[in-house]
Amino acid sequence: MSNQDKIKKLIDLRTEAKLGGGQKRIDSQHAKGKMTARERIETLVDDGSFEEFDMFVTHRCVNFGMEKTKFLGDGVVTGQGTIDGRIVFLFAQDFTVLGGSLSETFAQKICKVMDMAMKVGAPVIGINDSGGARIQEGVTSLAGYAEIFQRNIEASGVIPQISAIFGPCAGGAVYSPALTDFIMMTENSSYMFVTGPKVVKTVTGEDITTEDLGGASVHSSKSGVSHFMLENEEEGILLIRKLLSYLPQNNLEEAPILEATDPIDRMDEVLNTIIPDNPNQPYDMKEVIYALVDDSEFLEVHRNYAKNIIVGFSRMGGQSVGIVANQPSFLAGVLDCDASRKAARFVRFCDAFNIPILTLVDVPGFLPGSGQEYAGIITHGAKLMFAYGEATVPKITVTLRKSYGGAHDVMSCKQLRGDLNYAWPSAEIAVMGGKGAVEVLEGRAMSKIEDPAERAKYAADKEAEYVEKFANPYQAAAYGYIDDVIEPRNSRFRIIRGLQGLQTKKLNLPPKKHGNIPL
Ligand code: HXC
Repeated sequence: MSNQDKIKKLIDLRTEAKLGGGQKRIDSQHAKGKMTARERIETLVDDGSFEEFDMFVTHRCVNFGMEKTKFLGDGVVTGQGTIDGRIVFLFAQDFTVLGGSLSETFAQKICKVMDMAMKVGAPVIGINDSGGARIQEGVTSLAGYAEIFQRNIEASGVIPQISAIFGPCAGGAVYSPALTDFIMMTENSSYMFVTGPKVVKTVTGEDITTEDLGGASVHSSKSGVSHFMLENEEEGILLIRKLLSYLPQNNLEEAPILEATDPIDRMDEVLNTIIPDNPNQPYDMKEVIYALVDDSEFLEVHRNYAKNIIVGFSRMGGQSVGIVANQPSFLAGVLDCDASRKAARFVRFCDAFNIPILTLVDVPGFLPGSGQEYAGIITHGAKLMFAYGEATVPKITVTLRKSYGGAHDVMSCKQLRGDLNYAWPSAEIAVMGGKGAVEVLEGRAMSKIEDPAERAKYAADKEAEYVEKFANPYQAAAYGYIDDVIEPRNSRFRIIRGLQGLQTKKLNLPPKKHGNIPL
């Protein structure tokens, strides 16, 4: 064979590899409205930046005639590319090859890019579209998954890991995405579950569709497994690029600081009027966020799950910030099990990746009742407390209105090492609301008043006295628990100045193997 022939052979092999499971299966993938693995990667990374690895890898299985069924690349496309000029490592499961099922060699390819990402200190993006463990391979496939899981765990908190679910992801395979930082799912074309509808029917008798059991909508609103729900893959790919723009490459770097186009001293008059005089009237916390952040840009995480708390990324003065905010327009912004877990995970992500946290507080307390107690609100609330108390990134808290009881402490108060704690003049920082306080403190006195009108007047007077004394920020400010009471419209400037001052913050926790967050 001449050298020219050898080069031609290489080109032919590359062409064959790029066809994956063949044109027919590519057409069938397209007919389902799905891109192929390579198309997904090419759309995601900067033009021409993708370098593929292991294109010639094939499986070694000889069971069930598999020695005659080999595809170059073995069902997963792996490599490196850049996004906005920054290096990322990727794998995309190729459903056109044996349903994207995972073999021993398939897993080795994924492990190789994960190891590279760890050596280099760059994010890993995994695009999932697979029938799960390659059934013909048996236990080597399970071992392959476990090798990936172990790497997911070791990479956690070191490099950002993002999982896009653009097709099936079932059985134990779900645990790799679940170990990563963010999961996104496409509507009506992706699903995740530990056991599928057929097994569910056999074991429990329940009749349920794939979509109702593990579709994007279910996992984005009910279980919280998925952080983002997308209409289609193109939207998902744009989202991955946007998400990465807020993140550093690894835990030793800072997130990129962009030149701010929005003046840092921009005042927003809306903020001076947004809090209703009636403390029971809701308002939309998202309007506050849009008014505070650069160019009103906010990437919300978990938008449809536990809507009583809002979490997401923005920039302030060009710097990435993670925002955690109670939402008074949903369940009055109360903290419950789901909201606590949602916010705790977000706080820990920000802390792991050096992203300062801005907390906007308007919380009437924890949701009372047996439902919440039985669901473990004590443990879940403690997660959020733990996450804030453990976080060493800059923490700025602004109390807009209510900040009552245990929820006051949890929401990044001064004693959980809040660096700057500001309050608006409308803030109410107290053990509990006026009505509840009067019932506890004045119950005995009131029971002795026989005339109902007189009793009601007594209660109203006491409540007014309590509200006058505590429904304000000044008692907390008198103790230095609030660093300053600020005018709402000037909040953006005060927060950005605070972030600038805190940029070189250093705080080390005592050495330990790891804490024991209440899981
Ligand atoms: C080998 C597989 C496969 C698998 C699909 N294929 N899944 N081959 N191992 N796990 C093959 C099919 O045989 C078929 O090949 C091709 O991929 C396309 O699959 P279809 O069934 O035609 O596609 P579709 O109708 O779209 O259905 C997709 C599917 C279905 C719902 C994912 O294929 C399916 O149910 N697969 C099995 C899922 C499963 O039970 N996996 C094991 C889960 S347990 P041909 O040549 O016929 O076209 C698991 C454990 C992990 O994963 C443990 C980790 C700890």
